[in-house]
Amino acid sequence: MEKIKIILDVDTGSDDAIAIITALLSDELNVLGITTVNGNKPVENTTENTLRVLDAIGSKVPVYRGCCTTLISELSPARVSRVGAEETIDENGEVVAYHSEYLNLPSAKNKAQDKSAVCYIIETIMNSDDDISIVAVGPLTNIATAMRAEPRIINKIKRIVLMGGGYKVANVTPAAEFNIWKDPEAAQIVITSGANVLLVPLDATHAGCMTYKESEEFRKIGTPSSNIVAELIEERIKAYNAMQPMEIPDSAPPHDALAVCAIIDESVLKDIRFERIDVDFSGGLCDGMTVIDERPFTPPKNAYIALGCDRNKFINMVRQRLIKNKLSK
Ligand code: BDR
Ligand code: CA
Repeated sequence: MEKIKIILDVDTGSDDAIAIITALLSDELNVLGITTVNGNKPVENTTENTLRVLDAIGSKVPVYRGCCTTLISELSPARVSRVGAEETIDENGEVVAYHSEYLNLPSAKNKAQDKSAVCYIIETIMNSDDDISIVAVGPLTNIATAMRAEPRIINKIKRIVLMGGGYKVANVTPAAEFNIWKDPEAAQIVITSGANVLLVPLDATHAGCMTYKESEEFRKIGTPSSNIVAELIEERIKAYNAMQPMEIPDSAPPHDALAVCAIIDESVLKDIRFERIDVDFSGGLCDGMTVIDERPFTPPKNAYIALGCDRNKFINMVRQRLIKNKLSK
């Protein structure tokens, strides 16, 4: 079986960590490198967190540190409007957050590579046989910067599967999803680049929530990977219960892991449409919103978007990988 070659772009992050583990335990994938970006936390933290996960599961996949600020949005303090809380105190008086400053894992022994993520992406894609895909689960700053610096990569990237956006669902503001909102100019550059782009938005990831049933089952597997995933799911359920309760009680979406599963088997997603998608980067109330134009007379369609997920299939895909527990590289 020919493996799907990917570069995984992350802002680790609790669900990014689950995505990294899922990717590295997938036989179907050849994870060439992991690039980090400013997002859930500053890039120093997201890089350290990524390295911690790799150390904990014994992976030597190279990690490249990426952009430490967004393209433009952070230059303007006025851009931050109606942002939801990222942490709170729960009913037991405990601080609960979607993402802790650092993952609760030993400090990383391995280091990031010297080369920057953007240079790595450009060189790797330019030297490829047009057979490398990108799975991007953080703000799109690295990918957009690489596209601007070397536009020839756009037609050489096989596919971009990105976790981001929303159709009927938003999180960080009433209109926007975090990854797109954090760097909306970068998202607009990537989504309208002409590359083959598939968005895995909140509409899909919220349909793939995991519960304590899953975390307990994963913990029973008893490997370092399954213990980390179990702990992170539980941490996320506490945060979602306190700040953003999901339809299924006591559950939370491990968003980024769904994008990894989608590049392996697209049938884990439901209701995939080809649409005209643009990002609002005007700085107003809808800053960072993914605008999906379904009118029949729209400008050319530019990206695929999935509006649902096969929850059982998703949980099974993660479960099977944790049980098999074999690093793909
Ligand atoms: C996305 O935002 C981040 O907080 C998560 O890691 C995920 O990539 C969900 O909106
Ligand atoms: Ca993420």
